[in-house]
Amino acid sequence: MITILDESFSQLNQFMTEKSFSKVFILVDENTHEYCLPLLLGNLETDLAFEILEIEAGEEMKNIQTANQLWEILTEMQADRKALIINLGGGVITDMGGFVASTYKRGIQFINIPTTLLSMCDASIGGKTGIDLMHYKNMVGTFSFPEQIYVYPRFLDTLPAKEVKSGFAEMLKHGLIADKKHWEDLIQLQHLDPVGIEPFIPQSMEIKQEVVNADFHEKNVRKTLNFGHTIGHAIESLCLQSENPILHGEAVALGMICESHLSYLEGLISKEDSDLIIENIQIYFSFIDLGDFKDEDIFSLLLNDKKNSDAKINFSLLSGIGSCVFDHQCSTENIQKSINFYKKLSEF
Ligand SMILES: NC(=O)c1ccc[n+]([C@@H]2O[C@H](COP(=O)([O-])OP(=O)(O)OC[C@H]3O[C@@H](n4cnc5c(N)ncnc54)[C@H](O)[C@@H]3O)[C@@H](O)[C@H]2O)c1
Ligand SMILES: [Zn+2]
Repeated sequence: MITILDESFSQLNQFMTEKSFSKVFILVDENTHEYCLPLLLGNLETDLAFEILEIEAGEEMKNIQTANQLWEILTEMQADRKALIINLGGGVITDMGGFVASTYKRGIQFINIPTTLLSMCDASIGGKTGIDLMHYKNMVGTFSFPEQIYVYPRFLDTLPAKEVKSGFAEMLKHGLIADKKHWEDLIQLQHLDPVGIEPFIPQSMEIKQEVVNADFHEKNVRKTLNFGHTIGHAIESLCLQSENPILHGEAVALGMICESHLSYLEGLISKEDSDLIIENIQIYFSFIDLGDFKDEDIFSLLLNDKKNSDAKINFSLLSGIGSCVFDHQCSTENIQKSINFYKKLSEF
């Protein structure tokens, strides 16, 4: 169940009181320890013993070594099967904490309290937990739902602007794939500040939740959430290996530009719709220079995408503003054209 906490944490306190947990572990990273934990602890009314588990911030920590350390600490602290883990942080914390909780002693309960826009609207919802393996993202993980998700938008006040923008890309995606009104509401925003975005968070969360409810195991409609992520992931991987890493949402924005144009090239949407989408995404996201990347490297990553089958690249593409098709296989020529189209955008 998702709860938006306005001024009070009473729902969370009620949940903690009703369930008889043996002990509570709050997982944070160094930033959420500093910026978010005081607010949570100041509002938590519980007699239960709790421990703080802190990891360093960053995607590099989302690996088996960190998971192992956390399993060991839980064991040393005698966490039993009635222990609760509260994941207080962004997607790295909710993915990692969910993974550790769902595997420790074959699964203990956990709740997510997302503190980034991306984790509020995306990562904390949907029951996917996991860690990275070598340089492959989310290679090992489980499908397990948190007991509760508590969203407190005021956590966003301390979030760096770049991170707010990164989460906004996923919100735009939710509008584009499923809800034209949501897209239209979002593109009215002149500035991406937390107060302006806050009223639209519940709708974005609901879109993700509905898609997941319709297809938990990603056999069909859940694949639409991958719009912008096929080309986006390939560029994200190349940038991460370069000296100019980009945030996930920035890569998704780039991917949505390419894949909107690709939707047009494949005859799925009109040129007007494609241009309108691209113009609006460009208002928020600046151009990323792909000049250093070779086309064959981009294609090699596209061919390795987890979502592929039978050696074909599967795309989720727009069939309108607010609707999306999945498992669409495009011609190599059109994929190349959509990447070239992006490269030329800097000339305008
Ligand atoms: N499970 C899923 O369905 C799913 C979906 C999308 C993304 N993800 C995963 O989510 C991760 C990305 O999530 P993210 O963008 O939230 O990254 P993140 O967790 O790394 O957080 C981004 C940065 O913001 C800091 N931070 C978090 N909250 C803050 C706050 N309130 N104030 C100040 N600083 C704060 C963090 O310490 C970190 O440095 C990736 O690992 C991705 O794979 C998972
Ligand atoms: Zn994403």
